[in-house]
Amino acid sequence: MSELHVALLGFGTVGQGVYEALDTHRERIKDITGKEVRIRAILIKDPSKEREIDPSIKVTTDFDEILEEEDIDVLFEAIVGEEPGYTYLTKAIERGIHVVTANKAMFASKGEDLLTRAREREVAVGFEATTAGGLPVIGAIRQLLNVNEITHIQGILNGTSNFILSQMRKEGLSFERALSIAQEKGYAEADPTSDVGGQDAFYKLMILSRAAFHGQPDWEAVPKKGITDLTSDWLQAAESFSLRFKHVGSIQRDRESISGVVEPVLVKESHPFYGVEDVENVVSVKGSLVGRVTLSGPGAGKLPTGSAMVEDFLSLIEGRYASSETRARIGVESLSGRDGEWV
Ligand code: HSE
Repeated sequence: MSELHVALLGFGTVGQGVYEALDTHRERIKDITGKEVRIRAILIKDPSKEREIDPSIKVTTDFDEILEEEDIDVLFEAIVGEEPGYTYLTKAIERGIHVVTANKAMFASKGEDLLTRAREREVAVGFEATTAGGLPVIGAIRQLLNVNEITHIQGILNGTSNFILSQMRKEGLSFERALSIAQEKGYAEADPTSDVGGQDAFYKLMILSRAAFHGQPDWEAVPKKGITDLTSDWLQAAESFSLRFKHVGSIQRDRESISGVVEPVLVKESHPFYGVEDVENVVSVKGSLVGRVTLSGPGAGKLPTGSAMVEDFLSLIEGRYASSETRARIGVESLSGRDGEWV
């Protein structure tokens, strides 16, 4: 049986999620693709850390050693920050390797550039895991755009913030205690300022904007506010009026422009975001024909994010993100996928 060769960049929460998902779903992937997945190499940062990695896999701190591996079909990138992720992915694309990324800070600003490079090299880029953890929201937008015009997207896009707000309200925990639990559970970023300050949700909103509207607003013109000013007293007082604070990103397009905002808002019991608790995310997309479509589910964590990356992997192996030339090259006959599109 032929093999699919992959490499992982990063072995933190998300990298480990991909490793585990590929391992536990090996048979299923084989049934779907007819191929055995083999992890050939893993890029790590700190060689002194104990890790449970199959000894047949090359583990290295040197990205060039990953590129030197022959016949890597797909690279999973799960490292933090614009660099070195962007440089690694451009090098991989240049070599004709498909990439799947979970790196939202990088993809929010460099997504367009990477997709252009990928089109030129006839490779595919998967980025479902950049936004809303395990929710297949990029896939849903892709599907809706087949006919709908999308005018508005709104979502709870940061699992850590939602978790903290829920724990402060339900359990009466302090902000600090709730954040430290979110860190223990692997939801928060290494530097959680980005989670609680609204920056992480902002990156995701910009990725959604590009996917749905083929453009982004001027970043400086998008107001960003996190959850750090909300106290347990406020959250509990709101609850007594059947209202809840939720940290929401909204983006809309009209004829002239795209505008967005990231901020805590009060929602009523009847609102679809009211019951979205703990690490869940939710995304509502308004389409010209369908109306409002809402997806909710786990927005962060090892396996939900690993799931999104492996789904992307299978989609690109099946050719769903690829141009017709790429599909021919990787041996896929007919699955749809419109050439040259962002999503
Ligand atoms: N720190 C992020 C969150 C991880 O809490 O949503 C998922 O992107």
